[in-house]
Amino acid sequence: MGEAGICDRIWRDARLVTCVPGQPGVIERGVVAARDGRILYAGEASLAPPLRAAETVDCGGRLVTPGLIDAHTHLVHAGDRSGEAARRLRGESYAAIAAAGGGILSTVRATRAADQAALVASALPRLDALLAEGVTTVEIKSGYGLALEPERRMLRAARTLGERRRVRVRTSFLGAHAVPPEHAGHADAYVDEIVGAMLPALAAEGLVDAVDAFCERIAFSPAQVARVFEAARALGLPVKLHADQLSDGGGGALAARHGALSADHLEHLGEDGIAAMAGAGTVAVLLPGAFYFLRETVAPPVAALRRAGVPMAVATDCNPGTSPLTSLLLAMNLAAVLFGLTPEECLAGVTREAARALGLARETGMLAPGLACDLAIWDVTSVEALVCRMGPNPLQARVLGGE
Ligand code: NIG
Ligand code: FE
Repeated sequence: MGEAGICDRIWRDARLVTCVPGQPGVIERGVVAARDGRILYAGEASLAPPLRAAETVDCGGRLVTPGLIDAHTHLVHAGDRSGEAARRLRGESYAAIAAAGGGILSTVRATRAADQAALVASALPRLDALLAEGVTTVEIKSGYGLALEPERRMLRAARTLGERRRVRVRTSFLGAHAVPPEHAGHADAYVDEIVGAMLPALAAEGLVDAVDAFCERIAFSPAQVARVFEAARALGLPVKLHADQLSDGGGGALAARHGALSADHLEHLGEDGIAAMAGAGTVAVLLPGAFYFLRETVAPPVAALRRAGVPMAVATDCNPGTSPLTSLLLAMNLAAVLFGLTPEECLAGVTREAARALGLARETGMLAPGLACDLAIWDVTSVEALVCRMGPNPLQARVLGGE
């Protein structure tokens, strides 16, 4: 504890959900103490060491959880694909629209035409919607530029968002999201460019926290993804994967073989993939917004993931095509209703497991000594009340790094 429990700020009379494995679901009369942005103590008031702080916040019995983490977003993009969504509602498939030059490539055209300021300006309202619901950490992908310059603009826009708002931003380079039109029919040549030019340059500029790819028949093959992952490893960067979303392409197992932080989507994940992910400690990031919006019928194998002990995160996948969703609370509700996660799993999925999916397990995602003091304070008294509603926003306050 050091210096007789002197801290900057104490939150008292909280119903605390620490999300630390093994601790009680809710700790009544909890207290959180922070110094220099880090948690000194989080737990029962009666067990706390003597604490003295310049400022004490009375939580009035409110629920206090770790600040929420959205571990998978495409928040930075331009354009509007609602017309495409309407076509899908009339019966066209996502794959058919993509094959005809729509889908991801339609957002690529709009994003390439936007300058950095426009990308930041259009993403800010989406970011603000997440923050208004208690998000303190957000992952933001590139992947609608698909060439060095526009990918750089997207990643710089993501960094700028982190400067314009009080939020921790983690970037993922998703150059391998789709084959750009100038390389149509020559995916391998585009992968050459990703591994030989784009990734090294962007990593050298400090714009890349992780490397992502889309492994799918309409995107990149396992062999192409493996080349991207090897290039990432050579640069010391962690990897993650859009895997087994539309078909079982062995994506979960591929991600696990490369020690990926996470494999995301996973509707069609098979038994081998589950076992491989369990062995590697790869987090399953579930994206119920895309499942819902694409009107998918095959849900990720949640019961088998649970049995195998694969950690499960939940994220919005906020993107203009398959998941135009800016509410992590609604993503939690969808994960409960559509995928069968318990309310506690939903909360862990947007805190502890989401932190793991971003390589931030030692930084945030739980209320434990030494971690950043990232809190969400809610005008409800139970985790169920956070998850089992659609629409209300009970956030009362958001704390990042003790502020
Ligand atoms: O996470 N699966 C691929 N990528 C996005 C969709 C992107 C898009 O359609 O623009 C996703 O669902
Ligand atoms: Fe995605």
